[in-house]
Amino acid sequence: MNLPFAESYKIKMVEQIHRSTREDRLLWIEEAGYNLFNLKSEQVFIDLLTDSGTGAMSDKQWSEMMLGDESYAGSSSFFKFRDAIRDIFGFEYILPVHQGRAAENVLFSVMIHEGDIVPGNSHFDTTKGHIEFRKAKAVDCTIDEAFDTTVKHPFKGNVDLNKLEDILKAAPNGKIPMIVITITCNSSGGQPVSMQNMKDVSHLAHKYNIPVYYDSARFAENAYFIRKREPGYEETPIREIVAEMFSYADGMTMSSKKDAIVNMGGFIALRSKDIFRQASVFNIMFEGYITYGGMSGRDLNALAQGLYEGTEFDYLETRVEQVAHLGKKLTEYGVPVQMPYGGHAIFVDANRILPHIPCEEFRAQTLAVELYIEAGIRGVEIGAIMADRDPLTRENRFPALELLRLAIPRRVFTNNHMDYVAAALSNVFERRNSIKHGFRIEYEAPIMRHFTVKLARMEYAIG
Ligand code: F0G
Repeated sequence: MNLPFAESYKIKMVEQIHRSTREDRLLWIEEAGYNLFNLKSEQVFIDLLTDSGTGAMSDKQWSEMMLGDESYAGSSSFFKFRDAIRDIFGFEYILPVHQGRAAENVLFSVMIHEGDIVPGNSHFDTTKGHIEFRKAKAVDCTIDEAFDTTVKHPFKGNVDLNKLEDILKAAPNGKIPMIVITITCNSSGGQPVSMQNMKDVSHLAHKYNIPVYYDSARFAENAYFIRKREPGYEETPIREIVAEMFSYADGMTMSSKKDAIVNMGGFIALRSKDIFRQASVFNIMFEGYITYGGMSGRDLNALAQGLYEGTEFDYLETRVEQVAHLGKKLTEYGVPVQMPYGGHAIFVDANRILPHIPCEEFRAQTLAVELYIEAGIRGVEIGAIMADRDPLTRENRFPALELLRLAIPRRVFTNNHMDYVAAALSNVFERRNSIKHGFRIEYEAPIMRHFTVKLARMEYAIG
């Protein structure tokens, strides 16, 4: 008999999670303004809001916490952290920051100015926010296949080279400070970018003298997909794949809260000494001295250890296969999801579940609220609320996809939890035609509105 799949770790510590009744949840979600970010964590049974900072650290990472050197400058923890990054990614110059958006803030303060254009593959919302905050423009060059959830392309995170070259040709000289490739591409469904595509983008960009930066939060999951899906890499160790991926980049920003499996942390890594020097000034202003950058020594230690654990094949297989387990269950129940399954999350296609609700009433958000009411599961909308308003026209932007993201924290839940989630979503799917209305916005912030938006049910507005 072939042996079934089994996790490559066992559990040493557990944390209680809380069940609730449907009546409780109806009340709590109304109090939360139908925004799942506003719920208290005890009001949630299975929290799939994000895989960011929600992973379980290993015994070795916790041991590293005890060894942290909390010296203000030049701590041994910094050198452990720096050497791990040099070893894994091959960059010379490294700045610690407290999380991914801080890396964007520091790096973009050096590189992006008013009127600039920053092409990429579906920039993550904080990346886009930091670009638009500087009155520059993020242009999405993701391949069209990414926007049809039924197409089974192995690398739906890829950049369309024709779209990219059109922008490179048309932009006035000096107006494109960088190209950002997000690996894996979160906004298009945790979809990977192929090695070939990274190589081609790098080639094209360098022909125009434009640097390429990777938004690297889920770089290891991307490497796992290259090994599984790209011919020629079937036997290549993950760390070799990672080294090749980053050989095509000029630098990276990293939210270590994902593939470095820590609860907080990030960094910038660069080839250019000049940019490093300029960025160091902003790092000291915004984050802290250049050998701690908003992180404790113990956190730098845990991050270094997490980078090694996060790039082990067995760990990645356990991780990505758990996401696929949820995806397969949902597919069995007929629930439409982004295909193929992503690396960190399953993205449920709300346009195909609630087509009878107008886009203006936020289909994916409506689905997210229904899933919470059904079973206390918290996902997140990746749709029109997150897409925000156009910074110039202030019109709502309606993206091609309305997705409910179910992000799976690393090493936290069992497949029983996944089965529970699948059954709950199947119940919502079965009663989809009885969901008649979505929501309207009662309050929104001028930028990145989804975190704090307050909503009201449309049925009450209509009367
Ligand atoms: N880039 C990507 C691709 C991300 O997914 C995130 C965060 C960031 C940058 C910003 O990093 O949170 O450390 O400041 N994504 C989280 C998520 C929030 O839920 O997907 P951060």
